[in-house]
Amino acid sequence: MISVVVGAQWGDEGKGKIVDYFAEGAAVVARFQGGNNAGHTLVVQGVKTVLHHLPSGILTPKTRCIIGAGVVIDPLTLSQEIDALKARGLLKGTLIIDEGSALVLPYHRALDLAREKNPHLTKIGTTGRGIGPCYEDRVGRRSVFFHDLFDPEELRRKINEVLFEKNCLLKMLNSPTFSTDEIIETLGPMSEKLRPFLGDASLEIAGAISREEHIVMEGAQGVLLDVAFGTYPYVTSSHTIAASAAIGIGTGAKNLERVIGVTKAYCTRVGEGPFPTELSGHSAEHLQRVGNEFGATTGRPRRCGWIDIAALRYAARVSGIDAWALTKVDVLSGLEEISICTHYQNASSFPRDAKSLENVIPVYKTFEGWEEDISKIGDLKQLPKNAKIFIEAIEDYSKTPICWVSLGPQRKATFVRKK
Ligand code: GDP
Ligand code: IMO
Ligand code: MG
Repeated sequence: MISVVVGAQWGDEGKGKIVDYFAEGAAVVARFQGGNNAGHTLVVQGVKTVLHHLPSGILTPKTRCIIGAGVVIDPLTLSQEIDALKARGLLKGTLIIDEGSALVLPYHRALDLAREKNPHLTKIGTTGRGIGPCYEDRVGRRSVFFHDLFDPEELRRKINEVLFEKNCLLKMLNSPTFSTDEIIETLGPMSEKLRPFLGDASLEIAGAISREEHIVMEGAQGVLLDVAFGTYPYVTSSHTIAASAAIGIGTGAKNLERVIGVTKAYCTRVGEGPFPTELSGHSAEHLQRVGNEFGATTGRPRRCGWIDIAALRYAARVSGIDAWALTKVDVLSGLEEISICTHYQNASSFPRDAKSLENVIPVYKTFEGWEEDISKIGDLKQLPKNAKIFIEAIEDYSKTPICWVSLGPQRKATFVRKK
């Protein structure tokens, strides 16, 4: 069975934590899109690990971790991530990287950064990891692929050809240019290190399906950052909706059996773009401080606001979400009042383009909070009455069941609410 786990907001919903929890009962965990713009935090037995490239099953012994062709790979940071995990004795699962994953190369990062600081261009607030320029190259038919790392002649030919255009662009943007030799030189040591992981994700998944294994597909970013269905242009450059799992791995769409949407009990966003329920003042400060809302990739403070049901219902629609995993409910402890945006006064559904979204007027229902620290309770039955009412309200308004509730960053602070 394939379960797809996607973020239902603007990323950082706690996908890594939820996937790590599911990994214990899964044979395979696969990433299907995004790159090292992702920062997925796992806390296992008190030890914190932030993953950028590697699937969140990597800390689970025997889990086969797969990186599909839909993922973009920065060979340098990927090999650093592998080395760092190995050094800590935490690389427990096995790893296969699809030969057709596109490489993020130094000119992608340079272009990303140069565009972000150019006063004539719209600032997106990207992670600066070169993700957009790398995906542009895939559709522009000039990607350098993972398998090219192991074919020195083809690697040189492709980089040479790509640099012909890239260096013109970089010059225009007042950014330093690159030579083929310098890029090949930095890639050299990476090739030998990464060669053992070369494989075919589609074939691996087909094998796992035929053996009736449980496969978890791990999304990065969130539905509202999808390049077609997100708040364009303030989006990432890949498809983050669940359907993307079929394409990013190379499996039939009908094999995706269930889709789990991860949502915080409130909402955050990093980078630019509209955010209808964004808060300022005491509540925002509480969410940021107690929720430790700083980016796992860039360290930027995350903007904080109330949970937005219009956005969640939209995410459930475009991504086919069957159930929610509701995270960070514990962060709300201590707030006198907590609000839920139930709908928009002037729009019947979530308008996806940034311009329309800027003009929506959220309508809130406000609930009484609770004082108790709920991060150490052993059972959802022990939740304070007001927390139960709040969780039920999210379920009712969103019209999608909340099947898992997370009350802390630890793997064990995850509870099944409904089967
Ligand atoms: P991801 O990108 O969706 O995997 O999420 P991030 O790892 O970027 O951000 C989620 C943050 O919240 C991480 O620091 C997690 O350790 C933390 N976290 C996840 N679930 C919970 C929870 O239920 N309660 C609390 N307090 N923290 C959580
Ligand atoms: P995870 O997987 C939150 C945001 C950036 C920016 C926009 C485009 O940890 O949830 P990009 O570098 O992708 O071109 O940036 O998308 N963004 C994320 N925000 N979590 C992420 O990943 C993100 N990945 C990209 O902040 O607004
Ligand atoms: Mg993150």
